[in-house]
Amino acid sequence: MADLSRAVNIEDLRVMARRRLPRAIFDFFDGGAEDEVTLRENRAAFERVRLLPKVLVDVSKVDTKVSLFGKEASLPLAIAPTGGISAGRFGAELILARAAKAWGVPFTMATPSAFTIERVAEEVGGRLWFQLYAVRNIDFRNKLVERAKRSGYEAILVTVDLPVSGKRERDPRNGFHTPYTPNWRNSRDVVFKPAWALDMLRHGLPGMANLVGYPFSTPSGTDIVTAVGREMDAGLDWEYIRRLREQWPGKLLLKGVERPDDAERAVAVGCDGIVVSNHGGRQLDGASSTLEALPAVSRAVGSRITVLLDGGVRRGVDILKARALGAQAVLTGRATLFGAMAGGETGAQRALEILSTELVRAMQLCGVRSADEIGPHLLFQNS
Ligand SMILES: Cc1cc2nc3c(=O)[nH]c(=O)nc-3n(C[C@H](O)[C@H](O)[C@H](O)COP(=O)(O)O)c2cc1C
Repeated sequence: MADLSRAVNIEDLRVMARRRLPRAIFDFFDGGAEDEVTLRENRAAFERVRLLPKVLVDVSKVDTKVSLFGKEASLPLAIAPTGGISAGRFGAELILARAAKAWGVPFTMATPSAFTIERVAEEVGGRLWFQLYAVRNIDFRNKLVERAKRSGYEAILVTVDLPVSGKRERDPRNGFHTPYTPNWRNSRDVVFKPAWALDMLRHGLPGMANLVGYPFSTPSGTDIVTAVGREMDAGLDWEYIRRLREQWPGKLLLKGVERPDDAERAVAVGCDGIVVSNHGGRQLDGASSTLEALPAVSRAVGSRITVLLDGGVRRGVDILKARALGAQAVLTGRATLFGAMAGGETGAQRALEILSTELVRAMQLCGVRSADEIGPHLLFQNS
């Protein structure tokens, strides 16, 4: 196991994850679509924002708590849905859910998980959100919603930026398939990535537990990269969201909104929130960075619904910047995933600890005592 105390920041956890994982799997986690312009921009947008810190404020105590959908979260953060992750470490979904519970933040369970909706609820619990991929088979889709309802999930996040799957070029180059299929090309991973290989030998290669029984239209029914992508309902429209609103009594969020007019429509159909997201740069390459799309979206909806943001969050100060630009909280995809890959639950918790301590320090250096005090007054505007 990597020495997690040596991980000073999220990038250190990323490097530890890369050391542990076969290249094809690391690239599946780390990569984006096509030229990865949007992937880079998500990060660059955070780096471009400059702050104007307030001084001579008593910041001996700061409070990072926020209210999310009427309940307290210890940080303005939830864990984003990431599918196929048990291919990197067995039980990654359970690991992330446990870390989220320990830290008092919500965990979002992805449709293409290796563990079922029910199992995560029974074995871990905590604040659970379910990410719904609008698979083409409507009966199966309805069943997923019913299962989340029966298991007491607080929210459904419908991913709307994936009518078809993005063109992620690292995957075909690496011959990546999920479940990971050993062949002569990747069998050297057994030698060079022994910790990962032992983990897979011990537990077997993961499948997609929530999609067992799904009538896939292609024979490669367990191949996340191609089969799930092909099963997306490219005909999904606002009418479905309207129907889902009637079917689902819990919180309803759309994940993958970047336009103010779409955000307005989300309000009109009765959504409780949106996630300003471009799928971590994995879908439309050339899509705006989420941080730059955020202010217009936030202005359009005001306080009528909750606005969350994901994409490129790697530092505690990023959480502060996102709140200053209009998000109530962020979702972390790769930051917490790299932690889980580097060191299991301890690693996932280390990622949250790094983000939390960095956020506290950034708040103190900005002269704000509570997350609620973070606002646009902290932004340096070049005009
Ligand atoms: C390996 C991986 C798998 C993902 N799987 C899903 C998924 O199944 N459903 C979904 O809505 N988003 C998925 N996402 C996107 C994340 O929910 C989130 O939008 C993105 O990771 C945020 O960017 P960040 O990684 O820079 O934090 C995935 C992202 C990664 C890195």
